[in-house]
Amino acid sequence: MANHSNIKLWSIGGGKGGVGKSVVTIGLGISLARLGNRVILLDGDLGGANLHTMMGLRFPSVTLEDFLLKKVPRLEDVVLETPIEGISIICGADDILGAANPTFHQKIRLLRELEELPADFVLIDLGAGTSFNILDLFNHSPGKIAVFSGVSTSLQNVYGFIKCALFRKISREFAKDGEILALLYEEDPAGEDISCMDDLVAQVKRVAPEKCFRLLKALRDFEVFLVTNMVKNDQDFRAAEIVQSVCADFLNIKPQILGHLLADPLVEVAINQMVPSLLHQRDNKIVRGLEQIAKRMVRLGRHSFPAWSPEEPKSAKSSPLNIFKEAFESSS
Ligand SMILES: Nc1ncnc2c1ncn2[C@@H]1O[C@H](COP(=O)(O)OP(=O)(O)OP(=O)(O)O)[C@@H](O)[C@H]1O
Ligand SMILES: [Mg+2]
Repeated sequence: MANHSNIKLWSIGGGKGGVGKSVVTIGLGISLARLGNRVILLDGDLGGANLHTMMGLRFPSVTLEDFLLKKVPRLEDVVLETPIEGISIICGADDILGAANPTFHQKIRLLRELEELPADFVLIDLGAGTSFNILDLFNHSPGKIAVFSGVSTSLQNVYGFIKCALFRKISREFAKDGEILALLYEEDPAGEDISCMDDLVAQVKRVAPEKCFRLLKALRDFEVFLVTNMVKNDQDFRAAEIVQSVCADFLNIKPQILGHLLADPLVEVAINQMVPSLLHQRDNKIVRGLEQIAKRMVRLGRHSFPAWSPEEPKSAKSSPLNIFKEAFESSS
C-alpha cells in the first residue's frame, strides 16, 4: 500500500529519557510496515545508540558513523535489513568518540540525504535532552512527534522540549538578525522578561513591525504531534490536552494529539528479549494505539494541516488547567 504523498520524514523526540521514544519508534515502524510501507528507522541518539539492540541486531556491520566519516558515499549505504519484513535500520554509532557531536558539515550532509532514502517512512529515534543536534533533527523533520508519559515531570520536560525546539527554529529563521535574537534570548529593551510568545510578538510588533509576519508564519508552520505513552488511567489519558493547552497559552502553537499508548508489561519483555515483533502480538494492549497512530500518519500527508491562528483566543483564566500551566512556565 505504499503511498507517495505522505510525510516521509518523522522525528520522535520529547526531551525526557525513558518515556518510550525508542519503543514508539519501533512500534510505529512495525505498524507502518504492516500497512504495506517501506520503513527505515534511524538511530538519532547520537552517542547513546541502542535502537539496533532493541530491533534484535547485535553487531551491525555498518553504522551512521561510516557515513558521517565518509567511509561510504551515501546514507543509503549504511541501511541494514532487520528481522522484521519491511523495516530497515540505520544504526547509531555506539560509544565512538565524536559521533555524538557531528560537525556542521556532517550534519548538513546527513539532513540532505535523509529525504533521499529509499523508503515511504523514515523514523528518527532521538535521544533525550535538548542539544542543538537533537533539536535540529527534530525541526528538520516535517513530522515531529513529541512523546511523554502522564507523570508531571514528563509533562514539564516535553513542554520544555517543544519550547526549545520552537526557540531554535525562530533563532535559525532570524539567524542574522541581532535585534530579534536579542528579544528572543535576552530581556527586552524596556527591561521586561519575555515570558510567553505573545510578549515576543508584541515586542517585535513594536520594535520591527515589518518582521512580525515572518515570526507569525514561523509559529504557524511549527507543527508538533503529541503521543502519550504508558497510559495507565484517565489522568494520563488527559495529559496530552494539558500539554496542548500550555503550548497554546505560552507558545502560541497548538500541537495536535496523534494518539495514546497504554502501559503494557509485554513491552519490557519485547525489549529485554530483543524480539520487537512481540510488540505486535494480537493480545498486546499497545497494538491498537500503535495501529491508530500509524494510520493517522499515513493519512496526514494527504490532507493539509488544520490552520492554527496565533491570534486565537486563550482558554478561560478560570480553567483548572491554569494551575498546571503556571507550574509549567515557572519551572521551565
Ligand atoms: N507502553 C509501554 N508500556 C510499558 N513499558 C513501556 C512502554 N513504553 C516504554 N516502556 C518501558 O520504558 C523503557 C524505556 O523505553 P525507551 O527505551 O523506548 O525510552 P526512551 O525514551 O527511548 O529512553 P532514552 O531517552 O534513554 O533513549 C522500556 O525499556 C520499557 O521497559
Ligand atoms: Mg531511546
